[in-house]
Amino acid sequence: MRDFLVAGNWKMNGSTASNAELVAGIVAGAPTSGSVKVLICPPFPYLSTVVAQVAGSSVAVGAQTVSEHEAGAFTGEVAPAMLRDIGCEYVIVGHSERRALYGETSFAVAAKFKAALDAGLKPILCVGETLEQRESGSTESVVEVQLGAVIDKVGIAGFATGVVAYEPVWAIGTGMTASPQQAQDVHRHIRNVMAGHDADIAAATQILYGGSMKGENAAGLLAMPDIDGGLIGGASLKAADFLAIAAAAAQG
Ligand code: 13P
Repeated sequence: MRDFLVAGNWKMNGSTASNAELVAGIVAGAPTSGSVKVLICPPFPYLSTVVAQVAGSSVAVGAQTVSEHEAGAFTGEVAPAMLRDIGCEYVIVGHSERRALYGETSFAVAAKFKAALDAGLKPILCVGETLEQRESGSTESVVEVQLGAVIDKVGIAGFATGVVAYEPVWAIGTGMTASPQQAQDVHRHIRNVMAGHDADIAAATQILYGGSMKGENAAGLLAMPDIDGGLIGGASLKAADFLAIAAAAAQG
């Protein structure tokens, strides 16, 4: 049986003062059930401080992106080993905002996924279709290509450590959540594609849902058999909202 992972992607939000309050609230209220892990992904400048703040708690910390390179002349970039060095456990790769706004290709995302694994991080691979792609019936092929690029690069064994997050682009920050059945159908498809490579890894891989997830809709989504948690944007910025999702996972 897979555990739940409830992950907050803070995106480019927060300050020293607001983060301190948010993290204190999350640490105080995170579920104690061993079957739910809570993860927070602050912007780079705050990672070390947040790592120190969660020390001794069950809350894990991750970054929102990472370089595909190990070290060197890459101005402005952050290496995977640096994230490990400061105590990050996870890193998000291939978020749709990175793909759409910063031109990250599936090929580049796969390189980041590999670099993260090589440094001992757990990469969370984001996949998902735009509204146009959904309406033209290509959701399954879009996620297959995004997933396939990573499998080509690291093999299915990469998902013995890695996580997948299905984030339909049309549901991100729009208040339009995928219905539990819509999400389940894509999650099942992702797991089936993975099972074509290795049934045991497919069965054990956590597949998170992301896109306007909140306390009110979390229970329905998390009750679906192939939804193993959430990658939460807006609702991860208030402790009570985020904890409501974690609580739904603890009951799920
Ligand atoms: P929202 O929860 O704000 O829709 O964002 C989802 C997301 O992009 C998480 O990575």
